[in-house]
Amino acid sequence: MIDMTQAMLRPLHRTLSSLLICLCRLRNDDVEAFATRHQVPHSHHEVTLMESSQPASELTDWVIAGLEGKNESITSTDPIKAGEGDTIPADGLVIGNFRIVPSEYDEAANDNTDDNLITIKLLSARNGWGTGVHPTTRLCLEWISSQTNDGDVLLDYGCGSGILSLAALHSGASKCIGVDVEAEALVTAERNVILNGWETGRFEGLHTREVLPYEVCPPRGASLCVANILIGQLVRPSMVAAIVTNLEPGGLLCLSGIRPGEVDSLKDAYGDGIDWIDEQYAELSASETIGCIDSYGFDCGRWARLAGRKKVGSKQDFIDQMSDLAVS
Ligand SMILES: C[S@@+](CC[C@H](N)C(=O)[O-])C[C@H]1O[C@@H](n2cnc3c(N)ncnc32)[C@H](O)[C@@H]1O
Repeated sequence: MIDMTQAMLRPLHRTLSSLLICLCRLRNDDVEAFATRHQVPHSHHEVTLMESSQPASELTDWVIAGLEGKNESITSTDPIKAGEGDTIPADGLVIGNFRIVPSEYDEAANDNTDDNLITIKLLSARNGWGTGVHPTTRLCLEWISSQTNDGDVLLDYGCGSGILSLAALHSGASKCIGVDVEAEALVTAERNVILNGWETGRFEGLHTREVLPYEVCPPRGASLCVANILIGQLVRPSMVAAIVTNLEPGGLLCLSGIRPGEVDSLKDAYGDGIDWIDEQYAELSASETIGCIDSYGFDCGRWARLAGRKKVGSKQDFIDQMSDLAVS
């Protein structure tokens, strides 16, 4: 009887799921309008947010308006007010083959030409988590640097400052799609992309509500996805569905923001759709992470990274599984 009821309810679930998707849907030109409606500063002191000449979506307008208040900038020179407590050391951080430096770093005064490191500049004291100080960002940076191939499309879920997208672009990715629940992080990420000399078209910022199953990276999906978000978010069925459906079959997934003891629950939440390939997940202690104690005032402890590959399976089974997840 229970089985019969479930079978009868299944089509209703799917219809509800589609309806929810349609309700949340924003046109692509809305998203583009969002990506182009801000002037790019060379320093956060000079930021002025300009009115868009194009109509933005009601959602993004509402989110940005709520953040900015009347005429207040969302930026601040005070790192605490700007929403992020960690700071990049003035002479930068070396992670893998990247040197992460604050935007005010004087490259001319620091001759690093011989070290072959790729410099990533980040606006400091800006909203948008992710400087490289935290062990989880380091774990993801190292993964991106070893896994990105020319032409890859990266879905950067929980992009924060855009640091991981920048690393992917520098490593050969043709495009990055950054998703964040915080609209101010998307603005920061866009500005960091330009600060590093990339065209805006190489990075597309999407608010979480604009992310739909199968729709983010047409026609096949992203070839890489990285999500460095706490476990409570990563295991949410709607996030699992959004991440897995927007990854192409055979695409690579890297999840971090988790403690070593949370790896198994994370694998369970992503079900049978992923072959986990990085069983020897990495851990870093704070002592290996320069700046962590200075930034957070305590030992950040041990974190993990989990990597896998999306299975190539029956599309219909997969759609059924994901639509069930989307309404559960
Ligand atoms: C730990 S930070 C990671 C930032 C950057 N990717 C990095 O690796 O340093 C997590 C980011 O995920 C965002 N986030 C949290 N919950 C989210 C959700 N449900 N959907 C999308 N983004 C989310 C936060 O706003 C934050 O920018």
